[in-house]
Amino acid sequence: MLKFDPKKTPIPKLHHLLLGSVAPRPIAFASTIDREGNPNLSPFSFYNAFGVNPTTLIFSPSRRGRDNTTKHTYDNIKEIPEVVINAVNYNLVQQASLSSTEYPQGVNEFIKSGLTAMASETIRPYRVKESPVQFECKVREVIETGTDGGAGNLIICEIMMIHLDEKILDPSGNIDPHKIDLVGRMGGDYYCRTSGDNVFTVEKPLQRLGIGIDQLPDKIKFSKYLSGNDLGKLGNIESLPNKEEIRKAFDSNEFSKKLDGFSQSRNQEKEIHLFAKELLESGRVFEALCVLMEGD
Ligand SMILES: Cc1cc2nc3c(=O)[nH]c(=O)nc-3n(C[C@H](O)[C@H](O)[C@H](O)COP(=O)(O)O)c2cc1C
Repeated sequence: MLKFDPKKTPIPKLHHLLLGSVAPRPIAFASTIDREGNPNLSPFSFYNAFGVNPTTLIFSPSRRGRDNTTKHTYDNIKEIPEVVINAVNYNLVQQASLSSTEYPQGVNEFIKSGLTAMASETIRPYRVKESPVQFECKVREVIETGTDGGAGNLIICEIMMIHLDEKILDPSGNIDPHKIDLVGRMGGDYYCRTSGDNVFTVEKPLQRLGIGIDQLPDKIKFSKYLSGNDLGKLGNIESLPNKEEIRKAFDSNEFSKKLDGFSQSRNQEKEIHLFAKELLESGRVFEALCVLMEGD
């Protein structure tokens, strides 16, 4: 492993390291106005949600590393502490990127990036009509983490109103990740798209009291063929199968035939573990354990 002491590492290198390793990051497409009412729109990926009561979002228009100047978004917020944070999905990403161009103060990035400014209900800055979720926010606090180039300016926002395009909802009224199709910012010029095959589910461990990987038999825990993800699924089971349950699992033709085949093989352990992996991939965790524990 390489080591970097931030105090001894050049700022551009640190920037590169953080952007590449704290990723993917959601993008706050922040709409502000200056005291004359001129709109400004820019994307910020140092961004996340930090609480729901009060609903808190934080993003950071940083001090520029190259000349220690501040961004218009930060300057505007110091004048008018209000911001609309618009979500960025795949349909919007090129225009959001275009709006990050460092235009002079007063240039309206809504116009530059061809997006539609829509009046907000509770604050003065405009919403981005094309964005699937728009948060009208009041800025509660700004925390400057430093005064040198590269320092963060944490804009702590409380949401006053949420606007949501109903097209992104599933039939039960929840946001469907495939429909909202958000993008994430990564290092360099990389982004990722959070829909299609990239989206998967992990069962919440809170729903049951899993036994933990430490309680799995050694031959499973130290398997050459099972990955950390496989063991994570197995450790989430509430109890190990008993002899009776294992026997029952093998009453099914599917398993007894497979095992008969494996017993002829010289790579018996490998084949059993790979079969268990297949079962795990299709969500059959208990059966995978039965297969792995057969013969115990
Ligand atoms: C996807 C994306 C994410 C960005 N994230 C940040 C960020 O988190 N902080 C930051 O200071 N600049 C970030 N930038 C760069 C700013 O958008 C850029 O400096 C912009 O010109 C600032 O505009 P303003 O001066 O009008 O506020 C990002 C750019 C892009 C394209």
